[in-house]
Amino acid sequence: MLRGGMPLTLRPARDGDAPGVRAFVEGLSRESRYLRFLSGGRVTDETIHSLAAQPVRGGVALLLTVPAGDGEAIVGSAQYVVDAGHVAEFAVVVSDDLQGQGLGRRLIQRLRQLAGEAGLAGMRGDVLSENRRMLAIVRDFGFATRRNPSDATVYDVSLTLRAEHGAASPGAFRLGRSDARAIHVWPMDR
Ligand SMILES: CC(C)(COP(=O)(O)OP(=O)(O)OC[C@H]1O[C@@H](n2cnc3c(N)ncnc32)[C@H](O)[C@@H]1OP(=O)(O)O)[C@@H](O)C(=O)NCCC(=O)NCCS
Repeated sequence: MLRGGMPLTLRPARDGDAPGVRAFVEGLSRESRYLRFLSGGRVTDETIHSLAAQPVRGGVALLLTVPAGDGEAIVGSAQYVVDAGHVAEFAVVVSDDLQGQGLGRRLIQRLRQLAGEAGLAGMRGDVLSENRRMLAIVRDFGFATRRNPSDATVYDVSLTLRAEHGAASPGAFRLGRSDARAIHVWPMDR
C-alpha cells in the first residue's frame, strides 16, 4: 500500500504486457525517460519488449502496477539482465507522480534480493551523473559509484554480492555501508 491506501502490486512481466509498458513509458516525463533510457525520444519496440518479457539466462523483469478500471496500470519497472560474469545489470523507473515515496528504493531492494538468491556475483548499472537521486539511493545500498573513465556523463555503479565470483566491476569493489538500512524501506514504515 502507498500512503493514502493505494494498493500496489509488484509482479513479473508476462506475455501481453508490451502495450501496457508502452503506455507507461510514453506517460513518463521527458526527463524520466531520458534518465532511464538515456534518450528523451521515442523508446524503441525492442526496449519495450525487453521490459515486458523475462530476459534470457536468469534475468528478471518486474512491473509495478496499480488498479485502474477493470484492470491495472503499470507505474514502475525494475529489471536486470545477467552478463557473462554473472553480474546483474539493472535499471529501474517509477512513474513521475509516484516518485519520491520510497518505491525506487523498494524496487532496487527487490532486485538485489533476487540477484542474491540467484547466487549472482553482483549488480551493476549506468547512471547519468546528473541523476543525483539515483546516485544517492544506490550509495545508500552500498554500491560503489565511479565515473566512467571513457564517458564523464555516466557513473558506473556496482555492488558485490558474492565475493568468490570476484568484484562486480574490476576496481570498483567496496564494502557497502551496513545493509540494514536498505532492508526495511517502504513508505508505510516511515
Ligand atoms: C530514480 C528513481 C527510480 C527513484 O525512485 P523514487 O521512488 O523516486 O525514489 P525513492 O522515493 O525510493 O527515494 C528517493 C530518495 O532520493 C533522495 N533524493 C531525491 N532527490 C534527490 C536529489 N536531487 N539529490 C540527492 N538525493 C535525492 C531522496 O532524499 C530520497 O531519499 P529518502 O527516501 O531517504 O528521503 C525514480 O526517481 C525514477 O524513476 N527516475 C527516473 C528514471 C531513473 O532515473 N531511473 C534510474 C536509471 S538507472
